[in-house]
Amino acid sequence: MKKWFAVIGNPISHSLSPEMHETWLKQMNVDATYIPIHVELDHLEQAVESLKLLGCSGWNVTVPFKEAIIPYLDEVDDSAKGIGAVNTVVKTLDNKYVGYNTDGLGFINSLGRLLPEYNILIIGAGGAARGIAHALKKQGFTHLTIANRTVEKARVLAEELKAGQAVTLEVAENTLSKFDVIVQTTPLGMKNSDASLPIQLHQLKENAIVADIVYNPLVTPLIEEAKKYNVRTINGLGMLVHQGALAFSYWNGVNPDTDGMIQQLIDQLG
Ligand code: ATR
Repeated sequence: MKKWFAVIGNPISHSLSPEMHETWLKQMNVDATYIPIHVELDHLEQAVESLKLLGCSGWNVTVPFKEAIIPYLDEVDDSAKGIGAVNTVVKTLDNKYVGYNTDGLGFINSLGRLLPEYNILIIGAGGAARGIAHALKKQGFTHLTIANRTVEKARVLAEELKAGQAVTLEVAENTLSKFDVIVQTTPLGMKNSDASLPIQLHQLKENAIVADIVYNPLVTPLIEEAKKYNVRTINGLGMLVHQGALAFSYWNGVNPDTDGMIQQLIDQLG
């Protein structure tokens, strides 16, 4: 039977995943297709049962189902267990459906080579921050600092990680020169939302890396500000493409071209 993949979410029409995976399937000569499926909020269980029944080869899960899908899967991999969120489902050879999370590792892969001793500042303590923080810890990065508007939430995350500390946004701003990597995970800077900076960058370290998980717009206010300091900046397209590439490799056993895909999406969105 021809393989087929999907992405489920609500809303789903703006997802870039179908285009990305269709391009890779063609490039890698995999005879399969990838479709977006809009799932009504109270129909997740039926949707998952249908995907299984119809023999879907694997699917991506996006907002708002990443947590809610867990009870309907046969198994959940460690990458998703720790953070309690699944973004990729893989069908095994014995027809089991296993949940993974490739968001955090995808993000790390998008940064290129990092040294384990780097001091990493994560701004935000929501779902996205949790995914990235857990993946960083798993990859051996232990010098983690979580800064959040509600510092209590940062504390909960730092305790859960058993690595790292929690600070206020103000403390992060005033001690910024300590950090080699700054990771922005809040919705600040997204199109049609608040365009203010989560923190000012006056004390940014020379040669720091500033990464924003937002990709719409490609140049967020934080990235724009960081560019003034001539540091390396990375937008959220890298994370989007690398999480997708990991999912693609779990499903098809081959690694697709990430750099070319990032360029394709920049040309399209830019
Ligand atoms: P996601 O799953 O995308 O991470 P989330 O779980 O709702 O979304 O988390 C949003 C994060 O952005 C939180 O850390 C939130 O801070 P609070 O915990 O204080 O709510 C942060 N955030 C959202 N709007 C913000 C703002 N205007 N200024 C600073 N931080 C903001």
